[in-house]
Amino acid sequence: MLQKMYDWVDERLDITPLWRDIADHEVPEHVNPAHHFSAFVYCFGGLTFFIVVIQILSGMFLTMYYVPDVINAWESVYYLQNEVAFGVIVRGMHHWGASLVIVMLFLHTLRVFFQGAYKKPRELNWVVGVLIFFVMLGLGFTGYLLPWDMKALFATKVGLQIAEAVPFVGTAIKTLLAGDATVIGAQTLARFFAIHVFFLPAALLGLLAAHFIMIRKQGISGPL
Ligand code: HEM
Repeated sequence: MLQKMYDWVDERLDITPLWRDIADHEVPEHVNPAHHFSAFVYCFGGLTFFIVVIQILSGMFLTMYYVPDVINAWESVYYLQNEVAFGVIVRGMHHWGASLVIVMLFLHTLRVFFQGAYKKPRELNWVVGVLIFFVMLGLGFTGYLLPWDMKALFATKVGLQIAEAVPFVGTAIKTLLAGDATVIGAQTLARFFAIHVFFLPAALLGLLAAHFIMIRKQGISGPL
């Protein structure tokens, strides 16, 4: 039955080469931890991606309860955490995952750096990686405000003061992020929410696609 359905689609859309391309791709021996234990360092990029997927999935569920306005934000998180079935688990995954993903990202970057994997012909993928790094830090910064408690408020205050200290464009960056207000308020929360759930995830998906396409095209870097 399933085979018949597959054949039906394959006859029309020729899908076999699409997955064969991935399934038949040979992984070189030097990146296989079963051959050399030290090759586990090559898993860091994939593990980072695994946590990114967890962040996206758990984040999607959080938006089902989170209310991005100053009156209800804190209480909506409190309700999710204490009343909603599995809410504490989903929020916990997103909370701890946010830190873990930065740790994995850092380990992956260290692997690429110390193995010199950024050298020709992979310079552009390093540049894409640097952009990904900024996007990930932006996700961490904007997400931190959303629970709308004292810690969130004062941490964001410090972050915005740092942004404001940038020469020449500092004030513009701060206004862009926080809105036209002297205090962190309704505009700030709305913007941080929009940046956290729409702008940066969209940018991340585009950058990750470029990252993976380049890795497939160039293959993994050779042994040391
Ligand atoms: C969400 C963030 C990221 C994900 C999911 C990711 C994922 C991956 C994966 C799966 C690989 C294949 C080899 C491996 O796993 O080590 C890879 C390779 C690579 N990554 Fe990333 N990466 C991320 C961020 C970065 C950053 C921040 C940089 C550098 C600033 C970077 C630079 C590179 C380079 C140059 C390669 C090619 C390495 C080689 O061929 O040996 N990546 N990445």
